[in-house]
Amino acid sequence: MQRPRTFHIVTFGCQMNLADSSTLASALMTRGLSRVDSEDEADLIVVNTCSVREKAEQRAIGRLNEMQRHKRTRPHTKLAVVGCMAQRLKDELIDVVPHVDYVLGTDRQFELPDVIDGIEGTSKVMTAFGHEEIDRLAPIKENSFSAFVTISRGCSNYCSYCIVPYVRGVERPHDPARIVQSINELVDDGVVEITLLGQNVNSYRSGDLDFPGLLRRVLDETPARRLRFMTSHPKDLSRDLVDLMAGEPRLLPHIHLPLQSGSDRVLKKMGRKYTVQQYFETVDYIRARMAYVSLTTDLLVGFPTETREEFAETLEATRRARYDSAFMFRYSVRPGTAAARMQDDVPEGEKIDRLNTLIELQQAIALECNQREVGRVCESVVEGTSRRSRHLWRARTEANKTVLFEGDGIEVGQVVPVRVLSADAFTLHGALVREDG
Ligand code: SAH
Ligand code: SF4
Ligand code: F3S
Repeated sequence: MQRPRTFHIVTFGCQMNLADSSTLASALMTRGLSRVDSEDEADLIVVNTCSVREKAEQRAIGRLNEMQRHKRTRPHTKLAVVGCMAQRLKDELIDVVPHVDYVLGTDRQFELPDVIDGIEGTSKVMTAFGHEEIDRLAPIKENSFSAFVTISRGCSNYCSYCIVPYVRGVERPHDPARIVQSINELVDDGVVEITLLGQNVNSYRSGDLDFPGLLRRVLDETPARRLRFMTSHPKDLSRDLVDLMAGEPRLLPHIHLPLQSGSDRVLKKMGRKYTVQQYFETVDYIRARMAYVSLTTDLLVGFPTETREEFAETLEATRRARYDSAFMFRYSVRPGTAAARMQDDVPEGEKIDRLNTLIELQQAIALECNQREVGRVCESVVEGTSRRSRHLWRARTEANKTVLFEGDGIEVGQVVPVRVLSADAFTLHGALVREDG
């Protein structure tokens, strides 16, 4: 068998998957494969998949089917499916998509180099959890200015609707010394902004070290200029963390705090382990301690048995929280979860209506929040040019918002002060503040 020389990775799903893809790319490159920009040129195509909603899986399967054409034109092409859907479907995936060569789960994917080399003990379907080497693998840098650093894998919360604990396993912390070392290496390499990743960063624990403790260590032992983290579970976000953020400008003022529902009854059925009141005690504390903070969330509509009144409570909570932005979803049954045993009784049309109502409300709130930024000078990391206009630079503000501005002699990766002049619901528009004016 001809050994693949080039590879291309297609990534679906969340930032955790993006981070895993970078780590996998690094593992493949260490073993002599080179990365190519297009799947048309790759001897090995890797699809890193997501299982969080049925649609995410359908999309990945659609892409995999389409990839059969590569096998026709270049029969030596190998196709590997890794990540969450690989973990969930295991061998069954080969029945669904027979031209797939390898199926490697969320932890096993990093053994892909061994698998393609046919190293003893490997097989084409591997989905056991656990891999002691994972946090020793250094991801490749996807760009010159920002990077993800995974602080824990998996999740032990088992929210009743969610597949993540099943496909990623229980929460396992990465070694703090390794986290610090990775950040130092990235900063040495020129990275200015680092996002620490975990499904629930606030439940991080390694020995005596909790999440605020980890952040203190990172602040003390690395020169990282801009640090972010996600996701924060409302039940575990501590005042200690908020106090730390309030006094430390290197911790950027953005908190992603998924509410999911504004109804206590629904939250309970979701297994979220907080009430609306407890959630807002946290939000109020954040707003009291941090003069400037961007608050974002995830919201889920149409959970089994959710009534119109309960949905109205979600609208009410959304108004009250004044989210800068939100990811909003309609409930999708995930086989094997606790909610899958409940009847999915909110009709699809009703779910769509609720979602549209919520999106409309949230867009109006986002517009208001963004307009409040007008006049502010944001220290922003230049990420490239605007997707719509190549004459405009695109940068990320401290609050994780996109700001567009004009300027000469700007370079990607620079941190520049931009004064916000106007805003829509998604983007800020500004002007560069020159040192001399
Ligand atoms: N760990 C993160 C969420 C990871 S999944 C947290 O707890 O916030 C990202 C989002 O997908 C969730 O916040 C939820 O809003 C949504 N989601 C999860 N399972 C879903 C399902 N079965 N149907 C629809 N949306 C879902
Ligand atoms: Fe899923 Fe809940 Fe874990 Fe988030 S905290 S990944 S929603 S189980
Ligand atoms: Fe992320 Fe999707 Fe897996 S949201 S953890 S890629 S199921």
